[in-house]
Amino acid sequence: MRLSPRTKLVKPSATLAVTTEVARLRATGIEVIDFGAGEPDFDTPQRIKDAATRALAAGATRYTPVVGTRQVREAVVAKLKRVNDLDYAVEETMVTCGGKHALYSAFQALFGEGDEVVLPAPFWVSYADMLVLAGAKPKIAHAPASQGFKLTAQQLADALDARSRGVILNSPSNPTGAAYSERELQSLAEVLVSYPDVAIIVDDVYEMLYFDGDRPAHLLKLAPELRDRTIVVNSVSKTYAMTGWRIGYAAGPVDALAAMGTIQGQCTSNPTAIAQAAAAEALAGPQDELAPMVEEFGWRRDDVLARFGRLAGVRCVKPAGAFYAFPDVSALFPRVWRDRPLGNASRVCEFLLAEARVALVAGDDFAAPNHVRLSYATSRENLSRGFDAIEGALATLR
Ligand SMILES: Cc1ncc(COP(=O)(O)O)c(C=O)c1O
Repeated sequence: MRLSPRTKLVKPSATLAVTTEVARLRATGIEVIDFGAGEPDFDTPQRIKDAATRALAAGATRYTPVVGTRQVREAVVAKLKRVNDLDYAVEETMVTCGGKHALYSAFQALFGEGDEVVLPAPFWVSYADMLVLAGAKPKIAHAPASQGFKLTAQQLADALDARSRGVILNSPSNPTGAAYSERELQSLAEVLVSYPDVAIIVDDVYEMLYFDGDRPAHLLKLAPELRDRTIVVNSVSKTYAMTGWRIGYAAGPVDALAAMGTIQGQCTSNPTAIAQAAAAEALAGPQDELAPMVEEFGWRRDDVLARFGRLAGVRCVKPAGAFYAFPDVSALFPRVWRDRPLGNASRVCEFLLAEARVALVAGDDFAAPNHVRLSYATSRENLSRGFDAIEGALATLR
């Protein structure tokens, strides 16, 4: 069948590709330790599942308003106040099919042909492809490991110019786990203030997953003057182990949200009614399950750093949050596997999958070709077994 040229602009998500390959190997009976998955290994808390069951019994089986029920939007408003100390009206919020679709609709609503959008790298794989689908041009601003994967104010200023229409900030970050401090956020905000035509997309999906001390104040708390051109994107996926429920949300100026709502209305209509009821409970109910989950991720982060420290030449910046580590594995590139040097991160991943039965994601699609991404959203036992296997496989290489 003839496909539109648009299909050539996007590539399959590298992270989902790893998940698919792991599933394929497992289906053939091969045991694989999956360090690729971008989702918590915990189950959705029972109180949230119960809310879904109640909603189903009560007949939440029909269309809801496109941008979400009043109940879940009010829960979003209350969460933004409670967690971020930000004031939003219900009309300034919408509920979406995952944080991903909030981003997609925001890009479609805000950016057009040739608009430049500053994308700090390493970045989550989907931003670039979704921007391209909107006709926009990602302008990649590299924040290397040597600066903790965080863009400096100067680098942001250098990346912005008269053609800039947007910037994306994701902290803590996928794939690096890096998180900006308040001071760093403040200095980025000071640059952004001078670019009134630039929309700011703040992707907060990992905001509850901080390991070392308090979460910094929100960018919009530090720089409220940016509020009328900022879209805050979030979701229940990572915070409440609800990746499969597909509920995200956005908050921002009414005109932008209305445009996003119109786009959503022509794409998906409302997110699933039952999942909205579950998300309302997630956001508004008792938050007791978060602290143990964050603590567990923090222990795993420490284990992972210790294990990378034992691999000669592999360097890993200490992640401050999320559940990813993003080591530089270029020291392994000269090592010889199947008669030729490993050469690049993709082949390092190929080698580790073939010889250690451990799945990682190569950094190429995150715009960091010397790195691999390890997700520690898996048990400590799996981490230990996986690193043993990696050490064993590396020991066989010249
Ligand atoms: C940085 C970032 N933003 C947004 C999302 C979207 O998450 P979801 O659509 O499951 O809410 C992800 C998922 O991996 C992510 O890593």
